[in-house]
Amino acid sequence: MASERAIRIIYVTETGTARDVGEFIGREAGRYALTASVEDVAGVEPASLATDSRVTVWVVATTGQGEMPTRIRPLWRLLLRKSLPRNALAGHSFAVFALGDSGYRLYNAAGRKLFKRLSQLGAYPVIPRGEGDDQHPHGLDGALHPWLDLLWEHLLLRHPLPPGHTVLTRQELGCPPPRYQLELLPRDAPCASPTERDAVRGAALRIADLGSAKVVSNARLTALDHWQDVRHIELALDPPAAYVPGDVINILPSNTPAMVDAFAELLNLDLDAVVSIEAAPDAPPASTPLAGLVVSLRDLFTHVIDITASPRRYFFELAPWLASDDREVERLTEFASPGGQDELYDYNYRDARWPVEVFTDFPSLRPPLHYLLDMLPLIQPRAYSISSPPDASPATTASITLAVVSYTTKIKTPRHGLASACLAQAEQGARLPVFVSRGAISLPPPQLPMVLVGPGTGIAPFMAFLAARADAHAAAGTTPDLPDMLFFGNRDPAADNLYSAQLAAWEAAGYITVFYAWSRPVSGVPKAYVQDRMREPEPAAALWHLLSSAAGVVYICGSAKKMPGAVKDALVDVATSAGGLARPDAEAWLKSLVKSRRLLEDTWM
Ligand SMILES: Cc1cc2nc3c(=O)[nH]c(=O)nc-3n(C[C@H](O)[C@H](O)[C@H](O)COP(=O)(O)OP(=O)(O)OC[C@H]3O[C@@H](n4cnc5c(N)ncnc54)[C@H](O)[C@@H]3O)c2cc1C
Ligand SMILES: Cc1cc2nc3c(=O)[nH]c(=O)nc-3n(C[C@H](O)[C@H](O)[C@H](O)COP(=O)(O)O)c2cc1C
Repeated sequence: MASERAIRIIYVTETGTARDVGEFIGREAGRYALTASVEDVAGVEPASLATDSRVTVWVVATTGQGEMPTRIRPLWRLLLRKSLPRNALAGHSFAVFALGDSGYRLYNAAGRKLFKRLSQLGAYPVIPRGEGDDQHPHGLDGALHPWLDLLWEHLLLRHPLPPGHTVLTRQELGCPPPRYQLELLPRDAPCASPTERDAVRGAALRIADLGSAKVVSNARLTALDHWQDVRHIELALDPPAAYVPGDVINILPSNTPAMVDAFAELLNLDLDAVVSIEAAPDAPPASTPLAGLVVSLRDLFTHVIDITASPRRYFFELAPWLASDDREVERLTEFASPGGQDELYDYNYRDARWPVEVFTDFPSLRPPLHYLLDMLPLIQPRAYSISSPPDASPATTASITLAVVSYTTKIKTPRHGLASACLAQAEQGARLPVFVSRGAISLPPPQLPMVLVGPGTGIAPFMAFLAARADAHAAAGTTPDLPDMLFFGNRDPAADNLYSAQLAAWEAAGYITVFYAWSRPVSGVPKAYVQDRMREPEPAAALWHLLSSAAGVVYICGSAKKMPGAVKDALVDVATSAGGLARPDAEAWLKSLVKSRRLLEDTWM
């Protein structure tokens, strides 16, 4: 049973941030002479919520389009049961820190829903909900630190410090112990095979059904002199996987050899060395998923550890302890302090610095190998909307439409995304660990027409939708009463006219009408975005007819930044101009579309 001076922390994560925050809160608890258990929600015994007398701190990320992370869903279904009495959780004292991104429409929806439901079931919130925002200049920390001040204040009232104790500084708490211990093996020691290594990666990321995919083809869709490299990549799935149009394939990428070599050279690592990774004594199993892996450093830093993710909080918590130069230690200590957050933001987060850049700036910061595993995260999967319909059930192939992420930082460093670099270089025959997951959208019944709005790679799931419908029409020898409408935005028809031949063929067959929006003026036609094309009288009239008389469904896919809001504003304008509705009625109509799931979004940052 819980000891008196103890709290329970439950993290609900999709990509690891909530776990980092939960573990950070757990370490901070030590400063207040509190012990903390830090638990993954998937391992939480539901009955314990009612019986455990400790204050429970929930750290809850939102995923998808305002959804609960996958690992809480079984517990969430239980909590939503109508049969639960109103006082089912009367013994549960809790606090919620929600993790989200205000760029998404359903901001922090998961944390908000959990807070509300726990309260409805009689649980007692000890402090108001905290809401971290990726868009805040200090990232999640902008809201986390003030919220934690409130939490500790409450907990100190509940559990006053024992006589003679004071709140410890982080310095007094000391350097957190490493989670792993590594043994150097002979260079010819047998290592995990790629399959065994990927199984460890999958288990560490809690992916139940990690399969693999072989690259069948990898073709650039944009002109060679166009700034953006967009690719159509066809994959053969091994084993075959069931999916429907709208689903997503998740790819576990690897760092490129050039990146790994540069990293190893800087840190003076022998990439051919072989190590056996074990959990340090007392390290909780949930924090040491790589325990048992025997691997060369080359494979470890190529396939397992993300050497490009911008260093997170724990990196800067450990760094002052692991640097040797006094001035560097002083600066790193400042970064790790609550008062140093502005400086840390300016240095690290604003430009999403890579670890190699930090190690270059702090030459005395050369962590021992076992601490490197604590400082750098595991490579996370990247999601891609599948742009092909399934060829069989389960499907043996899937294609994706990849916009290669490459940019120059404000400090003039050329950069590329991790998966982007890996996939752009993937040659025919290359193997990638993958898994398929449900998307946020799916095809409506065949009789309902669709309005598809998808600039750039937002076209990807629509290619699967349209191909599935075209195949069905071709097989039945039919054409639709009303063609689906596609609003497709790109920059320049000569440079990035993605899938133009296929779209023209479907248009000629009477399956779709395409409204192109080019964001560069083309032969006298002024530039336009998808929302501008939707407002034009002719498309607006067709759109209104399709949505009002034919009960059509609208899909918005692609960038989650400004586009989805601008498209919804355009729909309201269409309802007033073509539908003759007064603005308040047009706004109510849009809300009813969302509520009845006739306006669906699959967008990403
Ligand atoms: C449901 C879903 C479906 C998706 N479908 C597709 C799809 O069909 N096609 C597709 O291409 N992508 C799709 N994505 C996005 C994809 O998952 C990856 O996020 C994307 O490919 C980038 O991954 P990466 O590893 O190359 O970049 P990362 O290594 O993850 O780097 C991306 C990071 O780089 C930084 N960055 C990027 N551009 C700039 C810039 N200009 N200035 C400063 N910093 C910058 C940002 O911090 C950004 O978060 C989808 C995402 C989701 C969630
Ligand atoms: C695919 C994806 C979808 C997201 N959807 C939302 C959302 O709908 N609402 C929101 O507030 N934040 C959303 N976010 C932001 C995350 O909640 C935020 O980045 C959080 O810190 C991630 O925590 P995690 O790493 O523990 O999963 C999304 C992030 C991703 C990658």
